[in-house]
Amino acid sequence: MSAPVTDRWSSSSRPGDPASTTASTRRSSFLRPGDPTSTTAPRWVRWPEAHTLADGSQSLPAHAARIGYGADYNPEQWPEEVWAEDMRLMREAGVNIVSVGIFSWALLQPTPDSWDFGWLDRAIDLLHANGIAVDLATATASPPPWLTELHPEVLPVNRVGETIWPGGRQQWRPTSPVFRRYALALVEKMAERYADHPALSMWHISNELGCHNVYDFSDDAAAAFRTWLEHRYGTLAELNRAWGTAFWSQNYSSWSQILPPRLAATHPNPTQQLDFARFSSDALKDYLVAEREILRRTTPEVPITTNFMVMGETRGMDYADWAAEVDLVSNDHYLLVADPAAFEELSFSANLTGQIAGRAPWFLMEHSTSAVNWQPVNQAKTPGQLRRDSLTHLAHGADAICFFQWRQSLAGAEKFHSAMLPHAGENSSVFRSVARFGGELARLAEVAGSRTKQARIGILFDWDSWWASELDSHPTELLRYKAEAMAWYTAALANGLQADIVPARSVLTGHGLAGYDVVIAPMLYVVPQPLADALADYAMSGGHLVVGVFSGIADADDHIHPGGYPGAFRELLGVRAEEFGGLLAGQTVQLSGDLPAGSTGSLLTHDITVSADVEVLARFADGPFPGVPAVTSRVVNTGSGGRASFVATMLDPDALVALVGRFAAAADIVSPLPDAVHGTVQLAVRHTDSQEYLFYINHSAQVVTVDLTTADGALVAVDLGGSTLTAGSLTLPATGVAVLGRSRTAARS
Ligand code: GAL
Repeated sequence: MSAPVTDRWSSSSRPGDPASTTASTRRSSFLRPGDPTSTTAPRWVRWPEAHTLADGSQSLPAHAARIGYGADYNPEQWPEEVWAEDMRLMREAGVNIVSVGIFSWALLQPTPDSWDFGWLDRAIDLLHANGIAVDLATATASPPPWLTELHPEVLPVNRVGETIWPGGRQQWRPTSPVFRRYALALVEKMAERYADHPALSMWHISNELGCHNVYDFSDDAAAAFRTWLEHRYGTLAELNRAWGTAFWSQNYSSWSQILPPRLAATHPNPTQQLDFARFSSDALKDYLVAEREILRRTTPEVPITTNFMVMGETRGMDYADWAAEVDLVSNDHYLLVADPAAFEELSFSANLTGQIAGRAPWFLMEHSTSAVNWQPVNQAKTPGQLRRDSLTHLAHGADAICFFQWRQSLAGAEKFHSAMLPHAGENSSVFRSVARFGGELARLAEVAGSRTKQARIGILFDWDSWWASELDSHPTELLRYKAEAMAWYTAALANGLQADIVPARSVLTGHGLAGYDVVIAPMLYVVPQPLADALADYAMSGGHLVVGVFSGIADADDHIHPGGYPGAFRELLGVRAEEFGGLLAGQTVQLSGDLPAGSTGSLLTHDITVSADVEVLARFADGPFPGVPAVTSRVVNTGSGGRASFVATMLDPDALVALVGRFAAAADIVSPLPDAVHGTVQLAVRHTDSQEYLFYINHSAQVVTVDLTTADGALVAVDLGGSTLTAGSLTLPATGVAVLGRSRTAARS
């Protein structure tokens, strides 16, 4: 794990990172990995009943269609005189919901035995009197200094045994019984006190669980890890088998000998590392469930969420697994300004969040109005970008668009982070954009509640493979799981097509692949037999499975599928490789065949041989295995027409675009966008039983015109912002977005 990875927070990172910190214990109720836990149907924000506001007007009735709009609101950072101005400007901006109390534990409970809810009561009452709903935090995100002074044993420990001290935030071990005792007592207090408050629209558990504390190597973590392993393996013999401990004299003769993968002399056991990543995600999930149970018991009618971080390289939490634990999925997303593919990453993350939410509406809990404060260089957004980014989330199913934070702080670590109301005040371009966009969202209310339309191309996404494929001591440490998945997604967009990012675990629940004509498995390194079987069934029954490089290599224990690579898919693909040919950074191999002239591969190659019925689409022209097939395809079932294809290297972007275009065309998937705007305009669609909403997103810096004849005539403009629609032609300004509505009957005619 020595290759550089852009992680959002340098102190969180991965299990093998010496700077990492993580999670710890709870012997009593640790969930058995993989157990189905509570499952309730998704629920949406419980909007307050209509009531008379402070100014005498009536608030919207609870059932009125609306898109949520707001921010984290931290009134405790400001004198109360400022709150009145907050209310005036929130109303001016169209804010209808705010998250309150997230980092207020130290103020709510100033000492172990004293409580002060007065200020929070007044803030919530004021919000209610102004028609603004409250997403109330349980306030447990960051423990107060008295707690860590009294109980330093709640502090996380990193891989080298260093304590993570207070001074920042989230300095707690998710499995510390002591932390839990205090935090859960606070949750009880919050739930009891605000259970009947009419503004309480949803609970916000903690905040970005695992943002800084996902990997904790403390003794609490060690104890909880052992319990988790006992649940997973049952016996030491089974653990020894799974971890391959015959290697390097690692055989365990007692559970007490097992540790988290702390700093070791050399490569720690890979299965131990993979299990620790799984455990760390489960430990936080278990903590989430512990808070949730209190809230469910006290306020069963109030929906519960916690803000996920489906973004960038944040990988510690398997959100596809967590989603069943919340009533509605929320996400935080921040663009990495230095990333040339920042828009594609945003679109990818929004799509993945929507898939995790089962294509039902989800809540964008945080993004930024302009610059953040935590990247090496923090650039301001253009006014058009605020709108474009927000509507890209909306296009992928977000029914609430919120920001961090309402009013920009004057002090503290985030004083240079933008907000809805910046330092410059209401007379600012940011506030004007915020208020303008609030008005536009109000006009899009009818979109609320619609679902995202399923694409015909699915790209599998799997946290186990993310964790395991990038472990150390592999054929190359240059492979990046997320980058590989992103490359395929970007290639679909470049063909004017939408692809869905489908959590691989949904394939195992039986519904994941229905409706997809092409399913791509990028770097699906961990393939347990049931997943291999499900993917083979998919291809046998008429789908086209496309397997990317470094897929099908290992089973759930990170043991190699023997007999030649890619073991889990070898027969289905009709290919067999004996060696990996790793390529140095910057090194490429030329490809010949049915790809654009000059196509290259990078990072990894294979020495594959193919069976007689395999069609070779491209070969390596040079590199470690000249003349060997590089891209192959095979009809796996002549009856159904099902197909399985293999790509034995990382294709350059143009080659990947060509290949995706070819595979899409073979499945009769036609872009609804004219060729001229492929790669600059994304079309994402939401629908109800009767309506479709088409989001045309211009992610280029140029004005573009979209000829709508291929996308149907009977269009009704819902909202055009700076765009114009004339005679079947839509003109979008730079970063412009147009949302058009049409009846589904018209769409089919
Ligand atoms: C999130 C967090 C917020 C704020 C924001 C800044 O991590 O939930 O509290 O720190 O990022 O971008």
